[in-house]
Amino acid sequence: MNDKNLIELIKNSSLNHIAIIMDGNGRWAQERGLDRSKGHSAGMQKVVEIIEVAQKLEIKYLSLYAFSTENWKRPQIEVSTLFSILNTFIKNELNRLIENNVRLTLMGDISKLPFTSKKAVEYAINKTKDNTGLTVNIGLNYGSRNEISMGIKKICNDVRLGKIKEDYIDDLTLSKYLYTSDIPDPDLLIRTGGEKRLSNFMLYQLAYSEFDFPKIFWPDYGEKEFKDSIINFINRNRRFGGLNEK
Ligand code: FPP
Repeated sequence: MNDKNLIELIKNSSLNHIAIIMDGNGRWAQERGLDRSKGHSAGMQKVVEIIEVAQKLEIKYLSLYAFSTENWKRPQIEVSTLFSILNTFIKNELNRLIENNVRLTLMGDISKLPFTSKKAVEYAINKTKDNTGLTVNIGLNYGSRNEISMGIKKICNDVRLGKIKEDYIDDLTLSKYLYTSDIPDPDLLIRTGGEKRLSNFMLYQLAYSEFDFPKIFWPDYGEKEFKDSIINFINRNRRFGGLNEK
């Protein structure tokens, strides 16, 4: 299928937001007798590629799980490599992202990040905040249970201050207190690497998303595989608990 036809199909589907758990960098490297850091570098190249393809296909939102609240448990050398890869990504790609009207947003607590990464992320978010094209929402020191419990705390506080009434709290209320308050829920979640779990990623937002688990490592996932995931999604029948909603 050519890109024009695929864009048309995407427009006629409910696909606005794709979330990705980019798993398998380490195993990809180990299979090749390489250091795990080489897998993360190759993974970064795929981030660049998939952002470009998402833009080309006029996808509106892309959420990427780059670093979880649990990833601090990895060896310190791997953690610092991941942040230096993030710095390189911003240094090399920011101008192009700006030119291409991409908006960068964040999920997670970046106060704990190494200072240079924190500054680079803040700078990139600020520089792209008024862009109106693809939103690339990056999970950094992100954990969904933490996000939900923080959201509940903020709701309690606003109830105490009289800003909202307890009786009016519903599922939409909580979604307004999450990092994704101005982003619609993902329609499609892709997790590469073969594992079939959410690993504390967007638990609230993924309630009605379709899931795709391609059995390849993230550094092997490219334009063709991304399009396959999208076509696969388009062929599904989303009912949202009803009978025949598409
Ligand atoms: C999971 O693979 C991947 C990560 C923990 C990091 C993801 C980071 C990148 C793709 C690069 C940087 C990202 C951006 C946004 C610039 P794993 O190490 O858990 O792989 P394994 O399961 O094979 O060990």
